[in-house]
Amino acid sequence: MRVLGIETSCDETGVAIYDTETGLLGHALFSQVDLHADYGGVVPELASRDHVRKLLPLVRQVMRKTDTRPEDLGGIAYTAGPGLVGALMVGACAGRALAYGWGIPAVAIHHMEGHLLAPMLEENPPAFPFVALLVSGGHTQLVDVRGLGDYELMGESLDDAAGEAFDKAAKMLDLDYPGGPRLAALAEKGDPSRFTFPRPMTDRPGLNFSFSGLKTYTLTTVREHALADGLPDEQTCADIAAAFQEAVVDTLVIKCRRAIKASGHKTLVIAGGVSANKLLRERLEKALAKDGARVYYPRHEFCTDNGAMIAYAGSLRLQAGEHAGLEIEVRPRWPMTELSGSLN
Ligand code: KG4
Ligand code: ZN
Repeated sequence: MRVLGIETSCDETGVAIYDTETGLLGHALFSQVDLHADYGGVVPELASRDHVRKLLPLVRQVMRKTDTRPEDLGGIAYTAGPGLVGALMVGACAGRALAYGWGIPAVAIHHMEGHLLAPMLEENPPAFPFVALLVSGGHTQLVDVRGLGDYELMGESLDDAAGEAFDKAAKMLDLDYPGGPRLAALAEKGDPSRFTFPRPMTDRPGLNFSFSGLKTYTLTTVREHALADGLPDEQTCADIAAAFQEAVVDTLVIKCRRAIKASGHKTLVIAGGVSANKLLRERLEKALAKDGARVYYPRHEFCTDNGAMIAYAGSLRLQAGEHAGLEIEVRPRWPMTELSGSLN
């Protein structure tokens, strides 16, 4: 069965076609980064309008590239939440309407489920059960994944998400949006031992996170070393970036090891934008090897938002017999644990 996947939850328009027999046939992505850069963050109304402009041309492009006609498709999967309501509506309306017009089923996908299944698109995919660390711009969660749709939240951030913390720290260092990857690049030029930033909530038991104190600590350090233009010198900026990245990565590693121990699983999946972070991958691999556990992550381009993960999640849910009704519903806030038991 071929499934068309549509992702429009935030600032990337993603389209892909996944074949349950042969795997991923093709995908295309349009990133709105340039559109939002001047504003220092995503402007929801601009995001929605741009999805309207880009989505159908991308669908046409992927259908042509993969030699897929509407009658070759077994269903359409679209992201129904969580995300920006207007942006979600664009993908949901288009996906639902195309499926209706072509007489095929549609299925509504949870964006974070898409992320956590993304490593399964790789050559040596992880197998259930596993612990998933979902680290994106909007979420930091540890999830016990026992099977498709069988998720238990083990811990989450009580305030900022890890990606959000990266983006805010980057802004303090005058880096352009989206700051996460830029801060990570700057950190490579820094000395991580010059400053020691706090590792929030690691000194007490539990699997929750908090990154807002780290944000304040970063701002205070930037101000303490600021020159006349309000910013520290170049090397100090790099040293602050390195110290910040060390603190976030260290905190995530400590909690992942705890979650692996608590679950008894030997597999950790990391997904979402921050899973593209090189230091995080290296440190997790090293730390979990000591516990006899293995780390899986998606290829770089599928760490951040994309249509492939939605097409893949859709193929699994369609195969399990799930279909969306004719009404078009999106859920800007949608706890992933509500998916539990949604499949037979
Ligand atoms: O999953 P994603 O594309 O969108 C959401 O669903 O939020 O994640 C985007 C987030 C942004 O906060 C971005 O700064 C962060 O992932 N990010 C990174 C890196 N690449 C993307 N953070 C740290 N290091 C990176 N290499
Ligand atoms: Zn995402």
